[in-house]
Amino acid sequence: MILSPLHRLSFHPEENGLGRTSGIGTPPAPEKNRERTGKTTCESVDSEENHEKRPAPVVGRKPNGKSQIKYKGDLMNDQATLQLDGKVYQLPTVTGAEGERAVDISSLRDTTGYITLDDGYANTGACKSAITFIDGEKGILRYRGIPIEELAVKSSFVETAYLIINGKLPTHQELKGFSDLLTQNENLHENMKYHFEGFPPSSHPMAILSAMINATGCFYPGWNGLPNSQQFAEQSARLISQVRTIAAFSYRKSRGLPFIYAKPDYKYTANFLHMMFSSPYQDYDLKPEVVRALDLIFLLHADHEQNCSTSTVRMVASSEANLFASAAAGVCALWGPLHGGANQAVISMLQQIHDSGDDGHAFIAAAKDKHSGKRLMGFGHRVYKHYDPRAKIIKESCDQLLHSLHREDPLLDIAKKLESAALHDSYFVERKLYPNVDFYSGIIMRAIGIPTEMFTVMFAIGRMPGWIANFKEILDQPHKRICRPRQIYIGPVAARYLPIDQRL
Ligand code: ACO
Repeated sequence: MILSPLHRLSFHPEENGLGRTSGIGTPPAPEKNRERTGKTTCESVDSEENHEKRPAPVVGRKPNGKSQIKYKGDLMNDQATLQLDGKVYQLPTVTGAEGERAVDISSLRDTTGYITLDDGYANTGACKSAITFIDGEKGILRYRGIPIEELAVKSSFVETAYLIINGKLPTHQELKGFSDLLTQNENLHENMKYHFEGFPPSSHPMAILSAMINATGCFYPGWNGLPNSQQFAEQSARLISQVRTIAAFSYRKSRGLPFIYAKPDYKYTANFLHMMFSSPYQDYDLKPEVVRALDLIFLLHADHEQNCSTSTVRMVASSEANLFASAAAGVCALWGPLHGGANQAVISMLQQIHDSGDDGHAFIAAAKDKHSGKRLMGFGHRVYKHYDPRAKIIKESCDQLLHSLHREDPLLDIAKKLESAALHDSYFVERKLYPNVDFYSGIIMRAIGIPTEMFTVMFAIGRMPGWIANFKEILDQPHKRICRPRQIYIGPVAARYLPIDQRL
């Protein structure tokens, strides 16, 4: 490995807080030195000179009452200082509506020749977004400023989808218009049915979903290219509506059952259950508590900031790929067990614990052992260092549903025991590992009769509004740039091509 020479490097974000009135609806402070490309620039100043000019820090108070260190004078306002190779650079900082702060390094490489290295992007803000806010330390999740707890009680998936995509709650008329558009777009193009024939019966439904979403676009004019606002409204309605039709059809196909078409007078989630479970001669018995529980699962999954799949959607969209291609890529990213696939993995884990006769203790011990290759699935989160607020709501909904269906599930008992054991175990406490959204959602879906391999598909149906809203943010960017990270190369240096007969 090639090591670069050692450099003196310090990184001091500094802010005086004066005149900053961050709050919901307050636009972020203007960035410094913006070029035509939308990149901000850093200035280089002589290190010693800068130290002389720097005033002594004084303790100040921000508008929110918290004390802070600040510097007198304007020189250092809202700037980070980076010292590299004997030079000091001023980098602009950016403050979000909720006070989150970032150092803007957009022009770091141009100015200094350096890039940043951030394994797993854990410290990287890839975009500015107005859709979802998460405070992982406090366990806060808000869609367009509205707490998830409030939406869970008062809203529906379709209304929340409108909110996420359009940035505001709909009026009666807007909600009706949106619902009508979903209804008009619920049926797949008839030729799409032939595509289902090509998949072997063992295909995972997430593979089918991704392929079919991509195929859906091909059947409509104007799908490829940047949509205007009317095309975008139609395409997003088609995607939200047809993803559930594709999901239901792939389930029916895997079971050798005939396809059931949507009923225009049914609402979104009821229609999905109808397409999944009705038969040509008998309609599925739609229990309101079942419809509500599944609708809530969709709503709770509707967006979640810059996670792996949403970042993938944004990445693909940044190349100006169409909405269907971007969403299909999102499905693939969501599939993995460390992300959306965890809901399926949780049930497999619970079933395994149940079948082995373990009360959970042996599994917890294995999950703590780095050599076991096991993790407590449905636990832990990159952002939440507190109870995932969605998990709290889902756990309650799970208890309510099983109670009203007079159903008992031994896996629920195991899940609760695991949770209690983990929350009292120093390994999980120290690492701030709490149940995430996937820990209890599978038990609800089992109670509804959704097969385990379809769990991540349910997640994808729910996540569609979030992906669409993120796609739209990419389209609407004033300074569009393709997403293209850099790397630190650690491979062979300047190697030569060796003819095959000279190779050892
Ligand atoms: N079980 C046991 N140990 C865990 C778990 C877990 N579920 N999650 C994290 N840890 C441990 C890690 O081994 C590591 O320990 P160490 O510091 O001693 O090395 C520490 O906690 C930090 O873990 P990371 O993997 O660095 O955390 P990261 O933020 O990269 O990963 C993730 C987050 C992927 C969610 C992780 O917690 C995990 O694998 N959880 C299980 C899978 C899961 O439930 N995924 C769904 C997430 S929610 C969603 O995507 C919808």
